[in-house]
Amino acid sequence: MKRLLSFLPVLAILASCQSEQEVKRQQYVSEGLEVYKKHCSNCHQPDGKGMAKLYPPLADSDYLTAANRNAVLCGIRYGFHAPLTVNGQVYRQSMPANPQLKPLDVAVLMTFLSSKFGKDPAITEVADVEKALADCRQP
Ligand code: HEC
Repeated sequence: MKRLLSFLPVLAILASCQSEQEVKRQQYVSEGLEVYKKHCSNCHQPDGKGMAKLYPPLADSDYLTAANRNAVLCGIRYGFHAPLTVNGQVYRQSMPANPQLKPLDVAVLMTFLSSKFGKDPAITEVADVEKALADCRQP
């Protein structure tokens, strides 16, 4: 019993770290939603379903996956250059760049996108964004 009790503080610390991450995640998701509404939902629509053959969906998109995360981060910042195939449909219009978005804006936005539309709850950190953008920097 005594031994068991000595574990409790460790468990409490683990639990509080986990909930700190969860609080941060929720904060990123709600800030990301604001960035989305301001810069993205005009085209991709508030529900992420896109618009006909003009704007591809983000909800259940086979492009918006964890494996493609760096490509998505680069596309958000520097634009996507058509054609792009999403869920079997070819999109022929390019997407404009977003030079006004800071790495933190892109991090909260990506956390929102992957948790809301991509079914991947992982937090995208500012450092992840900076690294991805450094690798695809364009003039
Ligand atoms: C002016 C309309 C427009 C706006 C605004 C816009 N997009 Fe796009 N987006 C497009 C188009 C068009 C494509 C397809 C580009 C291509 O074919 O190369 C695209 C492609 C994408 C893709 C990859 C394909 C997919 O559906 O998974 C992602 C992810 C994406 N956009 C996210 C965003 C995010 C996040 C924002 C806000 C910062 C945004 N877009 C703002 C038009 C737009």
